[in-house]
Amino acid sequence: MACVGVFDSGIGGLNVLAACMQRLPGCRFYYYGDNVHAPYGARPKEEIVRFTRHAMRVFASMRVDAAVLACNTATAVCVEEMRSEFSFPVVGMEPALRPAAASCRDVLVLATPHTIASERLRSLILRAPACRFTLAALPDLAGEIERCLTCGTPLTLSDHLPDVSPDGVVLGCTHYVFFRREIARFYGCPVFDGVQGTANRLAAVLSEVLEEQKIGTDDHHCPTWNPNNCLTKKYIKCQKNRVIFLGNSKNINKKTFFSNICFTSN
Ligand code: DGL
Repeated sequence: MACVGVFDSGIGGLNVLAACMQRLPGCRFYYYGDNVHAPYGARPKEEIVRFTRHAMRVFASMRVDAAVLACNTATAVCVEEMRSEFSFPVVGMEPALRPAAASCRDVLVLATPHTIASERLRSLILRAPACRFTLAALPDLAGEIERCLTCGTPLTLSDHLPDVSPDGVVLGCTHYVFFRREIARFYGCPVFDGVQGTANRLAAVLSEVLEEQKIGTDDHHCPTWNPNNCLTKKYIKCQKNRVIFLGNSKNINKKTFFSNICFTSN
């Protein structure tokens, strides 16, 4: 059994976790949602790097086989740095511009200011020259969604969405995926996100890693979950240890994870 760390500033990465769990039914997952510090969108880059590095260190302490930055913002700011600092592979989020450009001509990209300003996004745009992209940096929406789903505060989506008429929308933030259907209804067009693509990428990366490890070992063993080995002392075990939620879980409990969101607890 392989084990994978999935990280986000808060609950947005649960969408990615759900897809990864489905894609890789034999894996154990550690989910680190740094929701004490969420949202990351408007924070200085140095802070985002520091928080992301801490999460990667927690995963290193759990001896993960791979990690996923299930956060477009953290990916935009520091995926390369994390890849150079840690020995396990780090899979990042990629806003789904490519699939959107395959079927749409006028595409709205919704994301946090760091993601919108990133070089990664710029290079994706350059690879789809036939498409017209409208970029919307939304400073508050991820935080509002985090509060709405963890504390029940009301959210008026239309207050945050730009008044344009695209023929496709890219959700460049994993928090927005919770409102995929509502956003599709608001714009009356197809919506794209990078969730499944990330799960597929993780599966490919993991099979390479395990293939390499087979050279020296007969079998792959995920270290037994031992809270004493873990850098963070707060955790919630779910699904018979298949998912272990770690970290700064302010306002987060099993109910938060399971009631709104993706899984059935057992
Ligand atoms: N889920 C993060 C992302 O994909 C949210 C960013 C934030 O915390 O502002 O960008």
